[in-house]
Amino acid sequence: MTDSDIHSITDAEFDASENLSSNPSGNRPFAEVLRGNLSRRKMVTGSMVTAAGTFLMPASSAWAKDDKAYQQRKHNGQGLINFEPVSIAQGIADQTMPTISDDYEYQVLIPWGTPIEPGATRAYNGEPNRRPTAAEAAKQIGIGHDGMWFFPKDLKRGLKYGKNYMLDSRRGMLCVNHEFGRNSHVMGKSAPESLEDVRLSQHVHGVAVVAIRKDRRGKWRVTRSVHSRRIHVNTPVCFSGPAAESELLQNPAGNVPLGTVNNCGSGPTPWGTYLTCEENFNGYFGWLDSGYEMSPEQVRYGFRETGFGYGWHDFDKRFDISNPDYVNESNRFGWIVEIDPFDGTQKPVKRTALGRFKHEAIAIKETYTGQIAAYMGDDQSFDYCYKYVSAKPWKEAIRVKESPLDEGSLYVARFDEDGTGEWLLLDVYDNPELYQAFDGDQAKLLINTRLAADIVGATPMDRPEWTTIGKNGEVFWTLTNNSGRTEPNAANPEAPNSDGHIIRTEDDMDGLSTTFKWDIYILASSTRETEGVFTDGDAAYADPFGRLFIGTDGGQPDGLQDQVTVFDTTISPPEPKRLLVGVPSDELTGWTVTPDFETAFTNVQHPGNGSPEETNFPAKFDGYTIPRDATLVITRKGGGIVGS
Ligand code: FEO
Ligand code: CA
Ligand code: CA
Ligand code: CA
Repeated sequence: MTDSDIHSITDAEFDASENLSSNPSGNRPFAEVLRGNLSRRKMVTGSMVTAAGTFLMPASSAWAKDDKAYQQRKHNGQGLINFEPVSIAQGIADQTMPTISDDYEYQVLIPWGTPIEPGATRAYNGEPNRRPTAAEAAKQIGIGHDGMWFFPKDLKRGLKYGKNYMLDSRRGMLCVNHEFGRNSHVMGKSAPESLEDVRLSQHVHGVAVVAIRKDRRGKWRVTRSVHSRRIHVNTPVCFSGPAAESELLQNPAGNVPLGTVNNCGSGPTPWGTYLTCEENFNGYFGWLDSGYEMSPEQVRYGFRETGFGYGWHDFDKRFDISNPDYVNESNRFGWIVEIDPFDGTQKPVKRTALGRFKHEAIAIKETYTGQIAAYMGDDQSFDYCYKYVSAKPWKEAIRVKESPLDEGSLYVARFDEDGTGEWLLLDVYDNPELYQAFDGDQAKLLINTRLAADIVGATPMDRPEWTTIGKNGEVFWTLTNNSGRTEPNAANPEAPNSDGHIIRTEDDMDGLSTTFKWDIYILASSTRETEGVFTDGDAAYADPFGRLFIGTDGGQPDGLQDQVTVFDTTISPPEPKRLLVGVPSDELTGWTVTPDFETAFTNVQHPGNGSPEETNFPAKFDGYTIPRDATLVITRKGGGIVGS
């Protein structure tokens, strides 16, 4: 068997690598399920949100304009959503390019290969015979555009002057995750043949921080900035928080911490930084020593001999988990990483207090005490939902030059069948069982968060993807699907769960309590017979007016490609309105807006799964040009808040 045979991996195998459960804990608290849950759910829908106080504002709205300005700008109609949705017929008519609502238009921005760093020499345009070199890729926009956030140019000033400051909606830094690009897409072959090939693959992964602006004709373009930079798996990073000094993050090789990878979703902080989430990091590691036996921890995190087929470990020792010199390298991934969009020299910081798992995304809200509560999913079948609460009010921590993300409490969710739940504390000093399992070492617990969550009896979920904070402080969680579920329960009521669902939680005491209420906001299967049909919700963004934007990732029914649908969360029952439909085999993910809410950005990820026979997006169909991941800039024709 040649190397390339070992690493060739079909679409189905690749998806299976992502979806397989590696949770043997058997936490099945609802084996005897409430099959009557649907009727209870109907009762709860529409009533649970009212309890939240007006102080609960998601982190994002602290940067926005004051409430009066929102009101003035609010659309003229009666409902929050007045655009003409894309019909199924429109959505399937021509799939060579994205299809957007007739009331909207889009522009393509920063496709894979756009030069962004000072010194970048050329753009990659999708020509299959002239791919970027590894060195060129390190200065260009990467591939696999995913979570992102727009940071207006004057954000720091705005934070200083407070809520009524009018932030710039024409210029800023866009932080974009580059989650992944498969070898066939990036280099036109299934496996790397040299370290140079591996470096190319590594450099197209990571994060881009890029300055953009709107020109006089209303078009967005890349602009020069000393803050623009690429961060990838060979960029120096550092660790902070309770596990930073742990020997489990050191290697006998003595190599300094480098890089971030498989950057999936994201979230902004109230203090103006970007958090990028490391998801399927296990897929980049493998082993060359065929006799290697994994530790139970490595099994739980889903490592495999050939990973997901990237072949990095064949040429780069760091990614060979059987190499004794790099025995803890894999512990350095699976974190949430903080990036300063306004300092191109800042070392990205891995925040260990937020735990190590397959971090999908993060949504932060400020509690009434000024502390932050952060909500995070671990995206794998039968994995968990997490919350972190800072020890101090965030402003106080920042004032004394501490990070609100370094000192706090990490919890995992247990969803009870009666619509309540409990946040279970993951702390060795709080729980004798945890103390024993992790030798009284909180760093060890944080590095092996999944195993701690197994011990306390968290509820295994149907692949927790994004989280977002609603208008009233409620949290929406997308559960994308779970083909492996055989036993339904109240929080995961379909078995198998082919279409996914969205759960809504509301913490007692505004994020500070360890108890919460929850309901199922929508079962995607309930939309199957409607014009608004959608499945496999993944990316999520709630605006401060009550709209919820969902990007999908999975085969949509009726011949539709992946889509962005919008819900008005102020009415019940929720009804999806289709804003955008993508191109073949893509995923629509990431969502961010300018401070005036009139420009939105979203991403077309892995168009055609890299195959030029399926699509050549953003080029017109020619059957030849390599399709490239890109950002879409979305505006309402004639102006207006996006989603209205
Ligand atoms: Fe990267 Fe779970 O999506
Ligand atoms: Ca996702
Ligand atoms: Ca997904
Ligand atoms: Ca995906």
